[in-house]
Amino acid sequence: MSYLNDNELANIRNSISIVDVISNYIPLTPKGKNYFGVCPFHEDHSPSMSVSQDKQIYKCFSCGATGNVFTFIMNYLNLTFTEAILKVAEMAGVSLDKDINFKQPKKYKNEYELMDITCKLYQNNLHSDLGIEALSYLKKRGIDEEIIKSFNIGLALDDNSLYKILSKKGYSDQIISDLGIINITSNGIFDVFQNRIMIPIHNLTGECVGFTGRIYKNNNSAKYINSKETKIFKKGDILFNYHLARDSIRLKKEVIIVEGNMDAIRMYSCGIKNCIALMGTSLTKQQVDTIKKLRVKVILMFDNDNAGEVATFNNGNILEKAGMNINVVRLSGEKDPDEYILKNGIEALEDVIKSSISFMEFKMNYLKSNKNLNDSKELADYIKLVIDSLKDITDPILKEITLQKLANDYNISYSVLASELEKLPVKIQMEVFPEEKKTVKSNLEKLEEEIVFYMMNGYNYVTIYSNKLGILPDKIYRAIANEVVYFYSNNKMTSLADFLSFTEKSLYKEEIMNIISTNNDISFNEDSFIELINIMQNKMEREKIKNLKEEMNKEFDINRKIELANKLLEIKKGSVVDENN
Ligand code: CTP
Ligand code: MN
Repeated sequence: MSYLNDNELANIRNSISIVDVISNYIPLTPKGKNYFGVCPFHEDHSPSMSVSQDKQIYKCFSCGATGNVFTFIMNYLNLTFTEAILKVAEMAGVSLDKDINFKQPKKYKNEYELMDITCKLYQNNLHSDLGIEALSYLKKRGIDEEIIKSFNIGLALDDNSLYKILSKKGYSDQIISDLGIINITSNGIFDVFQNRIMIPIHNLTGECVGFTGRIYKNNNSAKYINSKETKIFKKGDILFNYHLARDSIRLKKEVIIVEGNMDAIRMYSCGIKNCIALMGTSLTKQQVDTIKKLRVKVILMFDNDNAGEVATFNNGNILEKAGMNINVVRLSGEKDPDEYILKNGIEALEDVIKSSISFMEFKMNYLKSNKNLNDSKELADYIKLVIDSLKDITDPILKEITLQKLANDYNISYSVLASELEKLPVKIQMEVFPEEKKTVKSNLEKLEEEIVFYMMNGYNYVTIYSNKLGILPDKIYRAIANEVVYFYSNNKMTSLADFLSFTEKSLYKEEIMNIISTNNDISFNEDSFIELINIMQNKMEREKIKNLKEEMNKEFDINRKIELANKLLEIKKGSVVDENN
């Protein structure tokens, strides 16, 4: 395995033009200095994506997608970053070692390593003398050695042996406890998972980041307990089995979403590999984004109970508002896909999947439940609900078919239904996740953003920043500025397009993309940047003075007061701040 450094990456990027690459996939038209095309990363028909020959980046003014040639290929073809590099190298005719791997992020290396070791220890337990009962439970459920191996299923014992072994290996109590594996209490330190069958949970790129533990003996505790959120385990980001299912999803152009991890494990082992599980939760924005990026059809196959039906309705609505094509499978007889396969066989389940219905059809049935449609009032309510649920749908044909069906089924005039739909105000897509609406930026934040944006565009700005300012008030902007400084000091002559490759592994990727896509390519020059830096310096000093004054007013100790006054004087001496301002 060999690793690519940032300069080698820049070389590949420089061997081919982003305009040539993107126009292989979408038509681009030149306009001024840039090229424009229809953005493939959101539903659109007008050319809102601009591609810059100069800067070698693309930017969508509508959805905010932005990046360089690697990220375009990665997102457009649903590849990993490494695969995208190989693909671009191939297009550019640059020969590369097939085994190449993008430089591993140093971040959380210890954490991933620790999770890996934990996972192996659990697996050993399952195959030790203490694992006989758990193993026989799994066998009884039809989970054989092959499945155990491919999902790295293990066992947590009740003797705190995990803690003992990990600390003997030199891991601190703090890091083990931060990963949610042990509990530090006043009575001692204990393994969090005890007497449970342990199923590792992986992030989207396949690293083990957490566990879900199932009981296997009769006892009263919860059927499953899951790892708590940690630095590396963000529940809202992961989709169970995504890393294994991704290739098959791409190939079949279809993803099947189930409720339980056991359902996904069973289906995958039986050959239905394009399957991921929600682990009993509701879809988050991040998960929807991940699924949306696959650009495939979605099939929802939740449990055959009331909760499963409600989950189908809720998650289906979320996916529908995100503009996805959704079908639904409702099982009958058995409780969930796992039990369905065990009872009826895999072919039977495949048949059921083939006869899935559209989400709209499901919704019409769902809204009907508990209604007496012979009652005119209830029928009217029902029809209003269906019409209401049509207003967010973008597909005009689906709208027409649904209205037609309503008209036929209940003997109502089509035109009355259509005019009711017309009357409804169209909802804006953003409303799906109201809690994540963008907050308005303060002037200070705008200034910080502009400074960081300049810095991304050239080493000279980074130098000015480091010499004259070196810090920003906001934690996130400061961290991004640090990343920019780090990148440019290691690779002196690179550009924004190269910084974007580096960003791929950044914790602040989303914020960085946001900054790039919302800031205009003003014609940069050093004088205007120095002016920005001066304004910022001024603001920061004023803030410091204000804080010192407040502290002084509150202080009773006279010596400390004098100390603060001196500090204040010191700042004022060296500054140009007009403090009445
Ligand atoms: N779940 C959970 N905690 C529980 C119950 C369920 O976290 N106490 C999550 C699990 O991820 C589970 C999913 O919700 O996979 C669906 O729940 P359920 O249908 O009850 O579980 P099954 O997948 O059917 O589990 P099993 O077949 O092992 O009983
Ligand atoms: Mn089950």
